[in-house]
Amino acid sequence: MNDIQSVDVLIIGAGASGLFCAIEAAKRGRNVLVVDHANKAGKKILMSGGGRCNFTNMDVTPAHYLSQNPHFVRSALSRYSQWDFIGLVCQHEVAYHERDHGQLFCDNNSKDILNLLLSELKTAGAQLQLNTKIESVEKKDGLFLLQSSSGVIQAQSLVVATGGLSIPTMGASDFGYKIAQQFGHSLVEYRASLVPFTWNTADKQSWSELSGLSQTVTVSTESGQAFHLDALITHRGLSGPAMLQISNYWQPGEALFIDWLPSIEIEVEIQQARHQQGKKQLKNFLTGFMPTRLAEHFCALWQLEKLLADLTKDDVATIKSQLHQWCFKPGGTEGYRTAEVTLGGVSTEQVSSKTMQSQLCENLYLIGEVLDVTGHLGGYNFQWAWSSGWAAGQEC
Ligand code: FDA
Repeated sequence: MNDIQSVDVLIIGAGASGLFCAIEAAKRGRNVLVVDHANKAGKKILMSGGGRCNFTNMDVTPAHYLSQNPHFVRSALSRYSQWDFIGLVCQHEVAYHERDHGQLFCDNNSKDILNLLLSELKTAGAQLQLNTKIESVEKKDGLFLLQSSSGVIQAQSLVVATGGLSIPTMGASDFGYKIAQQFGHSLVEYRASLVPFTWNTADKQSWSELSGLSQTVTVSTESGQAFHLDALITHRGLSGPAMLQISNYWQPGEALFIDWLPSIEIEVEIQQARHQQGKKQLKNFLTGFMPTRLAEHFCALWQLEKLLADLTKDDVATIKSQLHQWCFKPGGTEGYRTAEVTLGGVSTEQVSSKTMQSQLCENLYLIGEVLDVTGHLGGYNFQWAWSSGWAAGQEC
């Protein structure tokens, strides 16, 4: 029994939430060990935001999160807010800038955020152990005992910060869900989200030829959730911020509705144009509002190679419904391979929203994406990792 490593706090997962929790707990004088089976800490931080890490957002509210318990995020987000994290970023002199919709990105590289975390971790005195696989977890006489690839680890508090299932090649695993279940927690059904959609068989051939085109659209679900952002046509399906955002709200099997021209009323534009430009081809007229190839595609689809003056009432009705309420039935999504997050996860019902401590097992904490908390695109998922990690770090 000599080789038992004994710590106050063991954190499984050296990602955004695990590192942040470790910093806070170590600052309180706790002896903290963070283990990860990967060979590097914070891999998702490094690949995030196209290499520039969208680390938070200027406007963070509970309405930017999905969870079966929508109030769960309130306490942690208000106790450690985006302003607190921005303060830390400034303290470390990380250069950043604001993009549309309040999104904050590093000027240089995502590495700046990971270096910030690793430097805070070192200053606080927490240990980081990579390439360590946890094989089993049990609780005995009030202590957690973990069998790991580097021996037995004993801890007073155990923090599960294993994230979700997206990008399996980056070390994602369902281990966090299994530990939660082992201690009696229930799971909210989970699936890949913030993810591009794939074409159904009928649309694939004609639409995939338009790959590379983008258009500002309003996309909505059958239940009326809507986003007004850019959509990108790809070989595989529809992507871009509009489609990623709506994927959080889409249910498999459902249709999506796309308004390709949300800032105009096409019927009104046609009525006005046909008086002055009646001899104009519909296709050329539409090019004033969308890329030429997209305009050509629609006209071919409707079999409307006509002059504006020749359009019938029915033609205009078809154009209106197809451009303002195009019904898209996705074949599915690209799945965990390209998804940014996992929607669903460990139910928040049996977790304290103030401390992230399990209400079923004392001194067990769950933080970050492993929980049934999913943010919108735009820095919200990292803010949840910082806020939930901070909250657990004050207690564990
Ligand atoms: P995270 O995934 O960061 O960390 C989990 C850690 O646990 C990993 O290091 C993993 O190796 C480890 N682990 C898993 N299983 C284990 C096991 N069995 N044993 C030991 N260790 C284990 N969000 C945002 O706000 N802004 C952005 O710009 C982006 N961009 C982005 C791009 C891409 C490509 C992806 C995939 C995701 C994003 N995200 C994002 C989402 C964001 O990365 C994500 O929500 C957070 O990293 C979640 O933090 P966690 O700490 O919960 O998990």
